[in-house]
Amino acid sequence: MRDLPETVVLLREFVRNPVRTGAVAPSGRRLADVLAGAVPAGGTVVELGPGTGAVTARIRRRRPARHVAVEINPRLARLVAARWPDVEVVCADAADLGAAVADGRADAVVSSLPWAVLPDERQRATMRAVRDALSDGGCFTTYAYVHALRVPAARRLAALLADTFADVSVSPVVWANVPPAVVYRARRPLGR
Ligand SMILES: C[S@@+](CC[C@H](N)C(=O)[O-])C[C@H]1O[C@@H](n2cnc3c(N)ncnc32)[C@H](O)[C@@H]1O
Repeated sequence: MRDLPETVVLLREFVRNPVRTGAVAPSGRRLADVLAGAVPAGGTVVELGPGTGAVTARIRRRRPARHVAVEINPRLARLVAARWPDVEVVCADAADLGAAVADGRADAVVSSLPWAVLPDERQRATMRAVRDALSDGGCFTTYAYVHALRVPAARRLAALLADTFADVSVSPVVWANVPPAVVYRARRPLGR
């Protein structure tokens, strides 16, 4: 599986489990760079849902001191661990990310989770875990596809971000991605 192109691997996982995989193709480089843009050199980053590593690769370029990746799919977790031995890959649900960074908080959490298909309570549990894992000055980034911004699950994500962070901003549309997407940047965790 390691030698297959990323697009083929993710498509195959999508066919196996479309809801959990959440995308038929990996994120484009431009979107991955915007997502990774909040990762400070020498800091700790937690990546949620690395998949085949499209965002992982761009995070590596920012030279974090510690990079934890939480991936629920064991085949994809093995692939990322084999390709990037310096990344601490944890095969787990992102809602349990606290256990993955038990010995410290993260300067950045970078998510490409398929939020829109997570049930309401799972969205909330995962967002609480993100909030609790972030350092006070940390930044959480995640994306949403532009064509789906008005669907209820996407609105729920935006509302949940506003409830969980004092400072939420939205990037310009990344038109170079298929499909085009925006990146949310959330800072100053509330209520912990
Ligand atoms: C849309 S794909 C993104 C893959 C890659 N990061 C990219 O941008 O191309 C979502 C990834 O999140 C993983 N995933 C879905 N639900 C998850 C969960 N609850 N916890 C951890 N990973 C999850 C999927 O297995 C998949 O690898």
